[in-house]
Amino acid sequence: MKQVLVTGAKGQLGRCLQSISDAFNDFEFHFTDIAELNITDSQTVSDYFKTHKFDWCINCAAYTAVDKAETEVDKAKSINVEGVRHLAKASEEAGAKLLHISTDFVFDGKQNIAYTEKIKANPLSVYGKTKLDGENVIKDFLSRYFIVRTSWLYSEYANNFMKTMLRLSEDRNELRVVVDQIGTPTYAKDLAYFILELITKDSEDYGIYHFSNLGVASWYDFAKAIFEIKAIDVTVNAIKSESFPTPAQRPVFSVLDTTKTKETFDYKIPFWRDSLKLALMNLK
Ligand SMILES: NC(=O)c1ccc[n+]([C@@H]2O[C@H](COP(=O)([O-])OP(=O)(O)OC[C@H]3O[C@@H](n4cnc5c(N)ncnc54)[C@H](OP(=O)(O)O)[C@@H]3O)[C@@H](O)[C@H]2O)c1
Repeated sequence: MKQVLVTGAKGQLGRCLQSISDAFNDFEFHFTDIAELNITDSQTVSDYFKTHKFDWCINCAAYTAVDKAETEVDKAKSINVEGVRHLAKASEEAGAKLLHISTDFVFDGKQNIAYTEKIKANPLSVYGKTKLDGENVIKDFLSRYFIVRTSWLYSEYANNFMKTMLRLSEDRNELRVVVDQIGTPTYAKDLAYFILELITKDSEDYGIYHFSNLGVASWYDFAKAIFEIKAIDVTVNAIKSESFPTPAQRPVFSVLDTTKTKETFDYKIPFWRDSLKLALMNLK
């Protein structure tokens, strides 16, 4: 049976992977969190790969606090760059394939058509820069890797925009949400299914791929959709980003073009609103 290491398994994507892993019984999964496998510790990573014989490493471990990263630069680098370097090196030495997750925030958002994998990245924030550096480390070390860039993840697990909106609506009847940042909300469970289908296919079409749900939305559209689907009576007021200043600059447009992913793997990706309905149903 193929052995699969999942790092950062207590995060949002890691928990989505765990929740569906029983359906993929060709694999034996080793779900690890920071306590068991701290990816910033090169010796621990190297030892872990020597005591197990992994076929795949799925890296869900990351520093994801976009605003905090502006001041916690060293911490963000140590996880998103050095940690990734340790995993890439250990995977190469062990003959394992690495599937790593990256982000739409590697782009500057200055174009107004969806970003393909061929477009040069130009991150605006420390988080985006560390994620891009992590991608480059993998390209330097490995030939057998998949880097899957995704956007605006949400799910029934961990903290995310969908859960924040629902929580805020419990004691407010009016909310202000940014309308001038455009992207695609992505149900992390759809991404989890894609990841496990991808390793099941055992394709050798290595490289960078974009995976988000289909369609385009602003954060305002996303919030409106959540309340419409749940039939919650909240007034959502559209505001501009300049009325909601944040430490990190975000791309104003970061829609990912998923054509390469759909065509290479013959994969059908759901529309974001359909997935949102499902996620809201799955939320206990
Ligand atoms: N969330 C989004 O909207 C979004 C959008 C685009 C791309 N992505 C990318 O998608 C991936 C998954 O994101 P997510 O939403 O699942 O993130 P998440 O919920 O923040 O999960 C990340 C996990 O990594 C763990 N971790 C941190 N440092 C670690 C270390 N040194 N060793 C091992 N584990 C460590 C965290 O543990 P602690 O909680 O204990 O720190 C957490 O469990 C990330 O690569 C992220 O950059 C996310």
